[in-house]
Amino acid sequence: MFESLEMTHPDPILTLSEHFMSDTNSRKVDLGIGLYKDENGNTPVMESVKVAESSIVAGAVDKTYKGSSGLDGFCDAISWLLFRERSNLIEDGRVFSVQTIGGTGAIRLAADFIKQIAPNKGVWVSDPTWGNHVDIFSHVGMQVSYYPYQGSGGDLNFPVMLESIREIPEGDVVVFHGCGHNPTGFDLSKCQWDAVLEVVKERGLFPVIDMAYHGLANGLCDDVYCVELFSDYLDEMLIAYSCSKNFGLYRDRVGALVVLGKSRDSCVKAKLHLARLARVSISSPAIHGALIVSEILSSPDLNRMWVEELKLMSLRIKAARQVLVNEARKQGCDDVFINVCNGVGLFSLIPARREDVGVLRELFCIYMLDSGRINLSGVNNDNVGHVVSSINTLLGK
Ligand code: LMR
Repeated sequence: MFESLEMTHPDPILTLSEHFMSDTNSRKVDLGIGLYKDENGNTPVMESVKVAESSIVAGAVDKTYKGSSGLDGFCDAISWLLFRERSNLIEDGRVFSVQTIGGTGAIRLAADFIKQIAPNKGVWVSDPTWGNHVDIFSHVGMQVSYYPYQGSGGDLNFPVMLESIREIPEGDVVVFHGCGHNPTGFDLSKCQWDAVLEVVKERGLFPVIDMAYHGLANGLCDDVYCVELFSDYLDEMLIAYSCSKNFGLYRDRVGALVVLGKSRDSCVKAKLHLARLARVSISSPAIHGALIVSEILSSPDLNRMWVEELKLMSLRIKAARQVLVNEARKQGCDDVFINVCNGVGLFSLIPARREDVGVLRELFCIYMLDSGRINLSGVNNDNVGHVVSSINTLLGK
């Protein structure tokens, strides 16, 4: 049977990360996969996570199965994290969460769910977007199309984006990045979200919000602006929530699909269908990481500790942007990094071609995605000179 297989390509992000790990050159710099890195280039376990994990391990009584929608305490905590300012929606039974295998699992569950309810709906993603959005929605058989996001200088071209969304067929699905747009780092302002909402209402579009970087763009409150806004005016939406970056639980694969429904009754039905979909794919999610998140979010002390740590991570990313921009100014190539100053979150795009990216990797041991996406937290005081001079060699005027 396998003889008939055609060759396929490995995942570009995960493969890049593997190549980086096997590179033995001491000058290597990882600006590739979306992991938070501290000033020393490490991705440490957060202290709040360590404390929560120790107490979970010490108090463990069993490892029995949980249901297909996961750990109730975790699901409620994630709903609360997103909707604490709209708690009436939770009380009215219009918001609930189901646990997923990371944010990717949440996107996949959303795609399966939509495909089951409305098999002919198309889905629209920003151009550019996280590559896996396209792969996941295509994989379930949905037609994926793009709405433009960037102007010719690589910045956000909001008027064009808005007009394109206005052209989307009524009722189609639109994926938005809640915060920390991956890969551009350009988020919509509050006024721009307000304008998007008007078009979403006008066209009866169905939003799926990818919330993979909550707390790492403009802080825990501001990062959920679009979620709160949409929930004030729309009957339904889905939010794919990831705990990979903001809790640093990458390989523990912790996430949730958060659902806003029109009524308590429709939510009860939706939850049962989502549980069925989980049952036939993963049966039930892994609980260990969800216990950690739930422990942190339910203990006032751990919660405070986590919020502080998250703030420090976000400040470090902002500082890394500045360090990069300052160095570029010093080396006279600030134009190459022009979009780095204005973005938020982990990512930015530099105007590198695929060939340039290959040379940067082969000759200078600098790893970034073929699109020119860089992870800002990979930059630190020790490597910034090497990063900027190498990029300048290829891209500078
Ligand atoms: C990324 O965009 O690098 C991260 O979201 C990691 C991944 O799974 O692709």
